[in-house]
Amino acid sequence: MEKEKLRVMRDDPVMFSKLVLKFNPFDYQEKLLRDDSDRLIAISGRQIGKSTCSAIKLIHFAITHPKTTSIIVSATLRQSMETFSKVLDFINSSILKDSVKRMTKTHILFKNRSRIICLPSGRYGSTLRGLTVSFALIDEASFIHEEVITQAILPMLATTHGKIWMLTTPYDKDHITYRCFNSQNWSVYHLPSSVSPLIKKEFLDEQRQLIGEERFRLEYLAEFVDDVNSYFPMTLLRPCFEDCLEDLKSDKEYFAGYDPGSKESFAAIVVVERLKDHIYTRYFRAAKNIPYSQFTVEISDLHKKFGLVNLAIDMTGLGNPIVEHAKEIGLPVTGFNLTQRFKEELLSNLRILFEQKKISLPQNLQLINSLNCIEYQRTRTGGYQFSHRIGTSDDLAYALALACWAVKEYSGKGILMGI
Ligand SMILES: Nc1ncnc2c1ncn2[C@@H]1O[C@H](COP(=O)(O)OP(=O)(O)OP(=O)(O)O)[C@@H](O)[C@H]1O
Ligand SMILES: [Mg+2]
Repeated sequence: MEKEKLRVMRDDPVMFSKLVLKFNPFDYQEKLLRDDSDRLIAISGRQIGKSTCSAIKLIHFAITHPKTTSIIVSATLRQSMETFSKVLDFINSSILKDSVKRMTKTHILFKNRSRIICLPSGRYGSTLRGLTVSFALIDEASFIHEEVITQAILPMLATTHGKIWMLTTPYDKDHITYRCFNSQNWSVYHLPSSVSPLIKKEFLDEQRQLIGEERFRLEYLAEFVDDVNSYFPMTLLRPCFEDCLEDLKSDKEYFAGYDPGSKESFAAIVVVERLKDHIYTRYFRAAKNIPYSQFTVEISDLHKKFGLVNLAIDMTGLGNPIVEHAKEIGLPVTGFNLTQRFKEELLSNLRILFEQKKISLPQNLQLINSLNCIEYQRTRTGGYQFSHRIGTSDDLAYALALACWAVKEYSGKGILMGI
C-alpha cells in the first residue's frame, strides 16, 4: 500500500501536491500540473495562482529527478524571489524539509543532489550563462527581453532536452510569448482571472473602474496589447527593467518630475537618481482626486528629507500657481508649459535614454503602462502629435520625462552628451 502511494505521488504531481504539500490545486492548476509537455505557455490574468502552481511543479520535478538543475527566472530578482519564496514555504511546511541538504533565499539543494535556483534574467542574460538546466520556469516572461530567452535560456536546455514553462500576464504581440501562444508546438493555456474561484466578480468590476479599461484587459482578461503605434513600445522598455526602487537616502543626487494632472486625470510624481551617466527610477506615485496642496506638501517633504537637486513641474493649465507656491517654499523648481513642441523634446529625450539603455525602470505595470500607452502620429510639418490609448493614463510617463528633463537641465549639456 505504502509503495503504491509512493508510486502515485511520483507519477502524479497533483497527488503529490495533495498528499505531501497538503495543497489542493484548482481544476485548471491540476491540468497544468499534469501537463508533461516540454514546452508550455500559460497566458493568464493576475492572481490565478500561476506562481504557486509552478512552485509545486518545480518541487515535484526536483524530487523525482535526481541530480537535475531547475531555475526560476524573471526580469528582476525581486520577481523571481517572490516565486521562489513559494517553493521555500511549501518545503518548510512539509515533510520535504528533511530532504533538503542546503537552503538559502535563492537556492535549494536537495539530498538527491537536485537543485532549484532563482535568478534575475538581467538585461542581457549574463547572470544565466554557464548553467545547464533540466527545467526552466520563466515567471512573467512578458517582461524579459526576448533575446535573453532565445540566446541565454533556451540554449541551457540543449543537452538535457529540458523543459521550459512560461507563465505570464500578457503584454505586446511583438514578443516570443505571443508567438508561442499561437504556436502548434507549445502546450497553450489562456486563463483570465475569472477562472479562479477566489476572485469575485465584484472585485473585477471595481478593478475595471480603478485601473482603466486597457490595463484591465491586460491584467485580468489576459489579452495582448497592440503597441505598434506606441512611442515607447515594450521592445524598447524591456531591456531597461531592473530592481531600482529603493528607500531614498539624503546623500544621493535626486531629481523629480511632477505632473499635477487635472480633475479627471492623475497627479503623478517621479523621483530619479543620477549616478554617473545613468538614471535610476527610485520612487513614483500617482493618484486621482488628491488636492494639489497635498502633493505639494509631499514634494516639499521629499525635498526636506533628501534634498532634490532640481524639480520640473508641468505648469500647463492650472500648474502655474503650484510652481509659484513651490518657489515660495524654497523648492528648486522649474515650471514648463507642455506645448506640442516641448512635449516632442521632452518625450524624445526620454526615448533616447531608453534607446541608449541609460535609464532603469522597475518592473511595475502602472509605470510601464503609462509609458506604453503613449501613441504618436507624424504631423504634416514632420513633427509628432502625441495621444494616449483610450482607458489609459500617461501622467506617470510625463512625470518621469520631466524628472529626466530636470537632470538634463541641471547637467548643462545633458546626460546624453556624456557628463
Ligand atoms: N489552489 C489554491 N487554493 C487556495 N489558494 C490558492 C490556490 N492557488 C493559489 N492560491 C492563492 O492565490 C493567491 C495568488 O497566487 P499566486 O501568487 O500564485 O498567483 P499569480 O497568478 O502568480 O499572481 P500574480 O499575478 O500576482 O503574479 C495566493 O494567495 C495563493 O496562495
Ligand atoms: Mg505570480
